[in-house]
Parts: sequence; structure tokens; C-alpha cells
Amino acid sequence: MKVLVTGGCGYIGSHTIVDLINNGFDVVSVDSNIRSSTQLLEGVEKITGKKVRNYKVDLCNLEDTHAVFHENRDIVGVIHFAALKTVPESVAEPLLYFQNNLTSLTNVLKCVKEFNIPNMVFSSSCSVYGNTTALPVVEETPLGEAQSPYARTKQMGEQIIQDYSRVNSTQSILLRYFNPVGAHPSALIGELPLGKPDNLVPVITQTAIGKIPKLTVFGHNFDTRDGSCIRDYIYVMDIANAHTRALQYLIDKKNSNNCEVFNLGTGNGVTVLEAIKAFEKISGVKLNYELGPDRPGDVIAIYADNTKAKSELGWEPKTGIEDMMRTAWQWEVSLRDRVLNN
Ligand code: NAD
Ligand code: WQD
Repeated sequence: MKVLVTGGCGYIGSHTIVDLINNGFDVVSVDSNIRSSTQLLEGVEKITGKKVRNYKVDLCNLEDTHAVFHENRDIVGVIHFAALKTVPESVAEPLLYFQNNLTSLTNVLKCVKEFNIPNMVFSSSCSVYGNTTALPVVEETPLGEAQSPYARTKQMGEQIIQDYSRVNSTQSILLRYFNPVGAHPSALIGELPLGKPDNLVPVITQTAIGKIPKLTVFGHNFDTRDGSCIRDYIYVMDIANAHTRALQYLIDKKNSNNCEVFNLGTGNGVTVLEAIKAFEKISGVKLNYELGPDRPGDVIAIYADNTKAKSELGWEPKTGIEDMMRTAWQWEVSLRDRVLNN
């Protein structure tokens, strides 16, 4: 069975392709490489022994997108990862985010409709919950006000798919990721932030390797067990496996509604200081960090209730924070070694 993955050259898309191939799916990717290169797909080939074709197409171009679907009309489903995802950039360039993330989505849906593609999985985000204080977050928790244009594109993307699914036969699943981190255990693929990263784990590994001089812990006087913010860090290969299961679930037609939502988190909150300690323990590196002011817009604490994904998809996140950090560190070291060997 063939699957079309959009954004397959990116971080979560590439890890998901590995899991799909390991579970017997054939995969084609569409990625304009606006925020990536083919490097991760080369890593996917080394891991799986399978070459994955990428169509270098901007999904905002309907004609080019249509041509890809026309050539791959035998697909059982689409997993739609392609999007811009940097929160501060979305604040500075809101139109870029609305244009890219929503035009690409509606173009994909137009093709899904025309070619009668039965199944669709969409990358959503815990950022749709906004500044919620009802913890842990269940799928029915009311969506709060989006804290950035990026988050708003995810809320709007979800609504577009829900409205579409009401009047079309495509079954769809919206997966709300919490904080995806780590890399494939082979260290052949991982996160490749462009420029200076904003997310905690790449900041930790880049500080440890010397690319960043010092990490600042954003806020240390919150009402949490050690004063720093709490997040639900979830291993990227566990996230990847949830996509394979979501697709299989749709294929098996267990989906009674046309559009269902699942949280993808471990269910455990980890503080920033605990994440740093876990990294120091597995790497043996003493991290250069300081306690600093809060980051505007940050939620103090958020973590998932993942009961629904466990019971409906049979999904079980298997990886703890230390193993997540270990793979992220091995990936960072492998990137340095590649530079040194060239
Ligand atoms: P990524 O930037 O590594 O991958 C996204 C890929 O989409 C990139 O390769 C980019 O080139 C491609 N792309 C963007 N716009 C495109 C377009 N118009 N046409 C074709 N390709 C396009 O990001 P990621 O971390 O792998 O995220 C994948 C998805 O998951 C995104 O939708 C993101 O919003 C969502 N998500 C990510 C996180 C996270 O922390 N990484 C958390 C929640 C949700
Ligand atoms: C995690 C924690 C920071 C960097 C973002 C997006 C969200 C989703 C996931 C896509 C926070 C702290 C961070 C640093 C720090 N992405 N931190 N020093 O903000 O939870 O979520 O990524 O959908 O939409 O907003 O993730 O990794 O940036 O931060 O102390 O240098 O680490 O304050 O508590 P966040 P993050």
C-alpha cells in the first residue's frame, strides 16, 4: 500500500517514513525543501534500504500538486506534515504562515477530493489548546486563544479538515503533538534546525557541543516543583509510530466519525531543569546554563492525557526523557563528526 507524505524531508516526516516502511508501506514524499534538503531522505534510505522519491513541489502551487496526485492516484492516504513551524517567525511574518500553511492544506484537500483519496492524517499541535490551565489536556478540552499566528494556522487547519470531512467521504485524523524530541537511534536522521534553534532540546545539545555559548532557562519562579516550566516531551519515533497506527486505523475503517482527534504525548510533565539534568546524566557533559527571565507567551505547564490514542490506536509511547536525550545527543555528535570528517 502506498502513502503520500507531505513534508517528508523534514524532521517528523522523515522519522515517520522510516516507521511506515518498517511496517510494509511504500512511500512517496512531496517537499519543496523550503525548510529542508534531501539529507534526511538519504538517511532514511541508509536505515531502511529503500529509496524514497521526493517530488520537489510547493504545495501552494495547485497545478504542480495536482500533477503529483495524478501520478500517484493509487495511494491509500495522505499524511500531511508540510508546514512552516517557527513560532517567533510567524509573529513577525503572519501572512507568510497563513498563506503557506493554509493554501498548501486546501490544495492537498482539493486533490484528495478529486482523486477520491480515502484517508488523511494531519499534523496538529498542542499549541491549539492555547494557555489552558485544565491539566492534563484531553481532546475535548476547549481550544484556547492561539498564542501565535502559527498556532492559529493549526486551529484553522483543524477546522478546515473538520468542515471538509463533514461533506466528503475522506476519513481523517488530527494528531496533536506535544513536544517532539530526539532522533532515530541510528543517528542517521534527526532534527536539523535552520539557524539558531528556539526549541529546548536542540538548544541543549548545541550548547553542549559548543555551537551556542550558554542556555538560558526561561523563568524559574513559576508555581511548579522546581520553578521552571513543564512540558510533555515525546520521542519522535513514538510520534512516528502513531502516524502508522492512525493510518492503519483509518484503513481498517474503525473510524466511526469522519474526523477524529488524538493527543500525542507521554502524559508526563517534565520541567526544564529536569530535562537539563537528564541530558547531563546521559551525556556526562556539564551544561553551561543560567536562570533567566520568562519567555513572553510561554505556557507555564502543559501535558497530555493520552488515554484515547492508547485505547483507540493501540499506541504506547515507550521512550523516557533520558533515552530521548541520548538519541538527540548522538545525533548532534554525529553532525559534528560529519563536519570534522569532510
Ligand atoms: P520541518 O520544518 O522539519 O518539516 C516540514 C517540512 O515541510 C519541511 O521539509 C518543509 O520544507 C516542508 N514544507 C513547508 N511548506 C511547504 C510547502 N508549501 N510545500 C511543500 N513542502 C513544504 O517540521 P517538523 O518538525 O517535521 O514538523 C512537521 C509538522 O508537524 C508541521 O506541520 C508542524 O507544524 C507540526 N508540528 C511540529 C512540532 C515540532 O515541535 N516539531 C510540534 C507540533 C506540530
Ligand atoms: C520548551 C520549554 C521554554 C528554550 C513549541 C511551540 C509549539 C510546538 C512545540 C509546534 C519551555 C523552555 C526553551 C530555551 C528554555 N511546536 N526553554 N530555554 O514553547 O513548549 O512549544 O514547540 O507545534 O507550538 O510553541 O517548546 O522547546 O521552545 O520550549 O528554558 O533556550 O523549554 O521556556 O518551557 P514550546 P520549546
